[in-house]
Amino acid sequence: MKKKEFLKHSQLSIGYPGNLDFEYSHFSDFLNYRINNIGCPFSDGSHRINSKKIEQKCIAWFAKLYKLKKYRGYITTGGSEGNLYGLFMARQLYPNATILFSEDSHYSVFKAANILKIPYITIPSNKNGEINYKEFEQQVTKQKGTDIILNLNIGTTMKGAIDNIDILCDILNQSTSRYYIHADAALSGGFLPFIEKAPKINFKKYPIDSLSISGHKFIGSPIPYGIVIIRKKHTDSVSNQYIEYIGCNDLTILGSRSGLAALFLWDAIKKRKNQFATEISVCINNARYLHKQLKKRLYHPFLNEYSITVFFDKPSLAICKKWQLAIQGNLVHIVVMQHVSIDKIDQFLEDLNKHS
Ligand SMILES: Cc1ncc(COP(=O)(O)O)c(C=O)c1O
Repeated sequence: MKKKEFLKHSQLSIGYPGNLDFEYSHFSDFLNYRINNIGCPFSDGSHRINSKKIEQKCIAWFAKLYKLKKYRGYITTGGSEGNLYGLFMARQLYPNATILFSEDSHYSVFKAANILKIPYITIPSNKNGEINYKEFEQQVTKQKGTDIILNLNIGTTMKGAIDNIDILCDILNQSTSRYYIHADAALSGGFLPFIEKAPKINFKKYPIDSLSISGHKFIGSPIPYGIVIIRKKHTDSVSNQYIEYIGCNDLTILGSRSGLAALFLWDAIKKRKNQFATEISVCINNARYLHKQLKKRLYHPFLNEYSITVFFDKPSLAICKKWQLAIQGNLVHIVVMQHVSIDKIDQFLEDLNKHS
């Protein structure tokens, strides 16, 4: 594939949740080093070409953002690995638990349940993508006496819906005290804390146990990565093995990890932390503009509150293919990331007019 193909496809990429508006070319010299953060980010180990000190700063920043004082975590390969890690830790703590999650959950949650061989129950969702609370309550009541793992969606993949943590915790607390909450905040977790009126979902206010975010979504990066954070007491109680070969402990679930990802993330945090609020406010306004225009054209669009994911009736396949729209049945979505400007939206709408 030639470089110009990447450019062409990037210019028409509006269907997936990745911010393409980033600049990391000042890191080009770092491509001459094999920066590998293998093992626990909190112990250096014998492989010295690593960026673990920077990784620790990144994890600390997210822990603070989500009001988690005693934390552990690491930079993963993406939101999916964070989900696998959260659910793995949940299973270590509650080996006989059942996982409950909505049918709108990302496929990595289904995959993690299968890999970990944890029994699961899929709960129907409402039309906007949020979990159906009545159905959830019925299942929790049926499961009375058993341990429960909840995969909480903070921004579903297709519809950008946020499950209401207050309602879900009330329901859980009526039935059991033995539960674990993993929050899948792949896209929205990167921006929700920067929206003034958005629900304040954090570890101080709620009994969340672990939380996973994709770094290449709201922050943006040429290589996919993610951030997972977890209550320290959980990692303390699960065996944290010393691995002689790498000279440090290992609490992660894979092996070698990108040290470059930590450098990118810290660079983005340092440069843009005071800008994140403006970035998300522009994205939300642009998403509202797209929603309004699609409504006029009778595509029955929907935009959840505090979301930048506009879902609507599937247009022609030619349009879906050209603009790389993710399809789910009769629906598609556009994720209005930082690079999806009004100008880009207008180009898309013009195409839509031509093809309808
Ligand atoms: C809700 C949700 N969870 C998890 C993921 C997986 O993230 P990643 O692609 O970073 O593994 C996605 C990706 O779109 C997602 O939307």
